[in-house]
Amino acid sequence: MTDARDRQSGPITLRESIFCHLSFAICHGIESLMALPDGPKASGVYQMLQWVATPFRFMRECYRRYGDCFTIRLSQRFGPLVLFSHPQALQIILTNDDGKLFDAPGEINVLLQPVIGTQSIIGLSGDRHRRARQLLMPPFHGERMRSYGALIQEITEQVMSRQEAGNPFPARKPMQATSLRVVLRAIFGLQDGFRYRQLEKLMTAMLDGLGNPASASLLFFPMLRRDFGPQSPWGRFIRNRQQIDELIYAEISDRRRAGQDGERADILSLLLSARDETGATLTDVELRDELMTLLTAGHETTASALTWALYWIHRLPEVRYRLLEELNGLNGELDPAAVSRLPYLNAVCSETLRIHPVALLTFPRIVRSRVELMGISMEPGTIVTGCIYLAHRRPEVYPEPDQFKPDRFLDRHYSPFEFLPFGGGIRRCIGMAFAQFEMKLVLSTLLTRFELSLANGRTVKHRRRGVTSGPSPFRMVLGERKTTSGDEREQAGAEVTKQR
Ligand code: HEM
Repeated sequence: MTDARDRQSGPITLRESIFCHLSFAICHGIESLMALPDGPKASGVYQMLQWVATPFRFMRECYRRYGDCFTIRLSQRFGPLVLFSHPQALQIILTNDDGKLFDAPGEINVLLQPVIGTQSIIGLSGDRHRRARQLLMPPFHGERMRSYGALIQEITEQVMSRQEAGNPFPARKPMQATSLRVVLRAIFGLQDGFRYRQLEKLMTAMLDGLGNPASASLLFFPMLRRDFGPQSPWGRFIRNRQQIDELIYAEISDRRRAGQDGERADILSLLLSARDETGATLTDVELRDELMTLLTAGHETTASALTWALYWIHRLPEVRYRLLEELNGLNGELDPAAVSRLPYLNAVCSETLRIHPVALLTFPRIVRSRVELMGISMEPGTIVTGCIYLAHRRPEVYPEPDQFKPDRFLDRHYSPFEFLPFGGGIRRCIGMAFAQFEMKLVLSTLLTRFELSLANGRTVKHRRRGVTSGPSPFRMVLGERKTTSGDEREQAGAEVTKQR
């Protein structure tokens, strides 16, 4: 099992190298036949280095020089990629990506393969992809999703209570622990115990290990995947992954042996009972890859968004004050449904996802029939993508785009092609509703039950984190546990008055 996976994600073999060169030749063959939008002229390797190390500067610079759409070349392996950020272009791409004008093939989503394997929803195309979405989406919506509300609140309290008052701690740590525990409980249905704790420890180590731009290079440059022992970056990664796989396969095997328990509401139970049109169930490898996808996509992203939200709420006293006022209107009852409807809390979460979109790009789409986008004729075979980061920074849509201003989401409604932190079309994030629900419940619980502050006034920057992005590390301090929300509000109000 591990060997097979290593063959997929290990150092490039001769066969893969021939494949890379062939795809390069094909891409360049296609490229010579079609006029792609202008873009940087540096070599693919250099553009890839910029994309990995300084993606925000790279995108801004390209936008400044080439405007609404431009072509980047991120190495032979990927061929040219055309980035669009204008809402009109995004609308055309994301409302026509079901195979006629555009397609969203899974085979080109290879970056995360070392983590999620080849059988994940992200790597599937056509009917198999549609079926996987039908299977996986329902638990992340409606009543099923809302049933996780109390669990999210309980886990948030549990994790934050472990911090020692007065001792600065890295802000990301409790956010990552909270979102990972939510996923382990909701998706795997795991209760606290050895497997749960091991998975928590190993997943955190594996994803932190890919966290900074240097280690994220392992995902972008397959030739760096060399096992020089347990202390080398790739060696550590594959050993970690092997242990995680063993735990996941052990859980699958135990659950298969125990048979179906109608009482269980977790997503693994649902996947175990799913059958395709021939009556076949998912194989262990398919189950492992889907679980690993949900485990990774379902907690890394939410943890980054939550960490950013904590930063802004505590950086801008007025934002915190208004949130506390709004929460106070609930009279001490944090009913999950009521919390999820609070307008200012919703605006703060949306503004966080706007100014710091965790995913910088949508998954790539491929042109199937010739189409005109922003006055440029796109030939079949061209690979395009929506640039979420640049779409969220358009000054005509978002005046003062670099300022954190939640009110913009109260004053105006944004179309799904102006505000798209979860992408769109046939690959729109299946966890969108769940992630927003979780963010609101975690933040409201933290604000009403704990007193937090930033440990210092240092500016926090947007950084690459694996294939996504997140804040640079910063610390927070926990004060005394709250007794009444009224005292806290008065204190926050005094701070706001002082600032004014
Ligand atoms: C703040 C949190 C999150 C953000 C910003 C986010 C963002 C995204 C984006 C931009 C995409 C690509 C959409 C496209 O190409 O059009 C995506 C896909 C996906 N997301 Fe999320 N996501 C988040 C949370 C979650 C959660 C909680 C889960 C599940 C537990 C999840 C599971 C997935 C899956 C499985 C896909 C692939 C869908 C497909 O290929 O059809 N995400 N997400």
